[in-house]
Amino acid sequence: MNLYIRETKSSDLHDIYRVHCEAFGYDKEAELARDLLNDSSAQPRLSLIAFHGEQVVGHILFTKAKLWDSDPHLSLSLLAPLAVVPDAQRQGVGGELIKAGLEYLAEAGTDLVFVLGHPEYYPKHGFKTAAHYGLKAPYPIPEKHVDAWMVKALNPKVLGEVCGTVICCDALNKEEHWSE
Ligand SMILES: CC(C)(COP(=O)(O)OP(=O)(O)OC[C@H]1O[C@@H](n2cnc3c(N)ncnc32)[C@H](O)[C@@H]1OP(=O)(O)O)[C@@H](O)C(=O)NCCC(=O)NCCS
Repeated sequence: MNLYIRETKSSDLHDIYRVHCEAFGYDKEAELARDLLNDSSAQPRLSLIAFHGEQVVGHILFTKAKLWDSDPHLSLSLLAPLAVVPDAQRQGVGGELIKAGLEYLAEAGTDLVFVLGHPEYYPKHGFKTAAHYGLKAPYPIPEKHVDAWMVKALNPKVLGEVCGTVICCDALNKEEHWSE
């Protein structure tokens, strides 16, 4: 699929909302995306939108994260949410959005990127089980879903050197976003 990916603008909000509603089949993630885009504690953030022709087919958001009691110079980011409209799924759009986001974040000096998501999907993009490195999610992840909380090292020197609990931005810091 021929894709064009760019950072989002405030005028994209309607398309972003629609993409998440269509992809997930309900509006909870669309509302989360909207709340995150309005959350000052989420800064710095990265919001990318994918076009196929004139059509918006995907959106990805990365927001600021921190580790309790860690070096304040560490730069951490959290990927959530990611959505591709049903007609464009399984054609590489999600992968291209992840790749573009990770490249941008690496250039910006981000050390680690976290995600809570499909454990069969994100490892294709270098994400690993975060619990193996002593990196805990903001809310406890049930043992049966432990593999869904993952980390990707953009700075390989950092992974294994730091551990603790991740603090996310205010809009994500609600148990409902971590319990399913
Ligand atoms: C999950 C999602 C973002 C993937 O985007 P995509 O553009 O469809 O995926 P890509 O084309 O980049 O990658 C396709 C591969 O990823 C895997 N994959 C895709 N969706 C998957 C899913 N829901 N669970 C597990 N693996 C998945 C498959 O291995 C697939 O390869 P295959 O077609 O050979 O089987 C998209 O399907 C989507 O928006 N789903 C609904 C919302 C959602 O679940 N968002 C992610 C929350 S973590």
